[in-house]
Amino acid sequence: MTEPVPGVFIVFEGIDGSGKSTQLRLLADVLRTRGLPVIETFEPTKGVFGRKIRNLYKDRSIVTPQEELELFIRDRREHVDQLIVPSLAAGINVLCDRYFLSSAAYQGAAGLDPDRIIARHDFAPDPDLALIIEIDPERSIQRIVERRGDALNEFEQLASLKKVDGIFKQLDLPYVKRIDGTGSQADVHRLILEQVDNLFPAVEPSANRDVP
Ligand code: ADP
Ligand code: TYD
Repeated sequence: MTEPVPGVFIVFEGIDGSGKSTQLRLLADVLRTRGLPVIETFEPTKGVFGRKIRNLYKDRSIVTPQEELELFIRDRREHVDQLIVPSLAAGINVLCDRYFLSSAAYQGAAGLDPDRIIARHDFAPDPDLALIIEIDPERSIQRIVERRGDALNEFEQLASLKKVDGIFKQLDLPYVKRIDGTGSQADVHRLILEQVDNLFPAVEPSANRDVP
């Protein structure tokens, strides 16, 4: 039997409230409408390490930045082994809300070296496309507070989000595309489709493409 063509792997990155999960859902809907198989997933996961990470939201000081990184990496290892790699191998396209660039940016902002964090991820397949959705930290905090109507967790304070934003801006990898996240949801969705178009030629036939 011939192996299926591997799925396409797209990750959504950016600071909290930048619109990742909104845009991931919109893209998943478009791809499914085109008849493409898609799974939607996210990190931190709901697995045992993901649950440990969520316990840190109220008080990060109970772990060192290095311990925090180890938890995210163990969570990601499970995610990669159990879901991401098998799905891609089966020809399913994977859309993931956060991946290792989030570790580089957030644990980098906590004082670790972003390049060394990325280098720890030789077990994790590079995405075909990492969309970094960019908005100002001030605006992201406004969105988070409006959405949840409650206080910010320890990953979301303005000063730390500014540091995280600064690291996301410096990341220079071949699969990274930056998306202006300040427009409406529809505007941002259109910008994303322009990038994704290259990976799925059938997604959004553009008006000026030559049709034989
Ligand atoms: P993230 O997953 O990056 O944290 P979300 O997709 O959950 O971000 O969006 C954060 C909040 O901002 C939600 O309430 C969402 O409805 C809203 N939102 C998302 N995209 C936009 C946009 N382009 N303009 C205004 N509000 C948005
Ligand atoms: P988030 O996407 O907000 O998940 P949830 O909706 O379940 O709260 O991620 C939670 C926080 O974890 C977010 O502030 C970013 C942070 N984070 C890291 O610090 N490092 C990582 O590697 C990942 C994946 C997330």
